[in-house]
Amino acid sequence: MRVFVAGASGAIGTRLVPQLIEAGHEVIGTSTSPRKAARLRARGAEPLLLDLLDAGAVRKAVLESKPDAIVHQATALANARFGRNFDRTFAGTNRLRTEGTDNLLVAARKAGVSRFVAQSNVTFRYAREGGMVKTEEDPLDTVPVAGAEESRAAMNYLDDAVVAAGGVALRYGIFYGAANDGMVEPVRKRQFPIVGDGGGFMSWIHLDDASAAVVRALEHDGPAVYNIVDDEPAPARQWLPALAEALGAKPPRRVPVWLARLLAGEPGVVMGTEARGASNAKAKRELGWTLRYPSWRQGFPAVYGAGEPRKGSRGTQRLGERVAA
Ligand SMILES: NC(=O)c1ccc[n+]([C@@H]2O[C@H](COP(=O)([O-])OP(=O)(O)OC[C@H]3O[C@@H](n4cnc5c(N)ncnc54)[C@H](OP(=O)(O)O)[C@@H]3O)[C@@H](O)[C@H]2O)c1
Repeated sequence: MRVFVAGASGAIGTRLVPQLIEAGHEVIGTSTSPRKAARLRARGAEPLLLDLLDAGAVRKAVLESKPDAIVHQATALANARFGRNFDRTFAGTNRLRTEGTDNLLVAARKAGVSRFVAQSNVTFRYAREGGMVKTEEDPLDTVPVAGAEESRAAMNYLDDAVVAAGGVALRYGIFYGAANDGMVEPVRKRQFPIVGDGGGFMSWIHLDDASAAVVRALEHDGPAVYNIVDDEPAPARQWLPALAEALGAKPPRRVPVWLARLLAGEPGVVMGTEARGASNAKAKRELGWTLRYPSWRQGFPAVYGAGEPRKGSRGTQRLGERVAA
């Protein structure tokens, strides 16, 4: 298959391109930077300079490349700084998830390309009621989170537009797998605390497993939505000490909810105390997707290199409190 990967030079794109080539596909990979485009060529892709927000350029690029499938992995999160206003951090990404998705879908329709796989998200998405681990059938959260309304609307927009066009939306957990992952510095510097009881769930996914899901999804007909997460959704009070330990950092601080609200705003409080995790059962069942890193418990030490948790350490004690997912 000729696969057009929009956003081939980012954290996931750089893992995905080699996997697609390994699976026998030809890859047309886009970047907005000539330097990164040259790296794409070195990885075996046909590089293309493209701004996804330029509708005419997107249409021309897709028509001229004659792909069999399109993959949308474009976000604008390099150098993102997470503060009280989530929507400000995600403004560029939100445009890529709305206008960018529309531009690609229009181009796909004009070029007669029906296979379309796009990057979506599970974090912050599912309704904060009932069980802590959600499937794709569970309702999405409709209760507004101050400072994150636009970001959530953009994610919903992407899911709906892709599914309406017969494509596949992959709702990813939080990416990890690279030395410069976004959580690394804040956790190392103890700037990412456990909020309240630390009961908010997060789902994680290693970048290699996230990429493998795209390769599998390209072999399946849409429309569909899949949670692409590891086997172990977990509360912050479990995964955060484990991440700190894997990084060789001191254990995370604990802060009361009122202080977290002041420092990190409502999104930080929701994520730390109420957010739901996600189940990967549907993706495994329907896509035949298997994980190289079934849990962050093995993944964090494997990636960040501090080895297995020390016996008897605080991290190990918390690692022992497993949650039935
Ligand atoms: N689910 C998650 O947890 C999640 C999701 C996304 C990202 N992240 C994290 O965020 C951090 C930054 O991500 P990243 O390294 O992938 O960088 P990024 O800045 O988010 O870029 C991702 C891709 O989108 C492309 N892109 C950006 N703006 C574009 C535009 N206007 N038109 C077309 N393509 C555009 C980038 O291309 P160029 O920069 O080459 O132009 C790149 O290929 C990483 O740590 C990553 O793990 C996490």
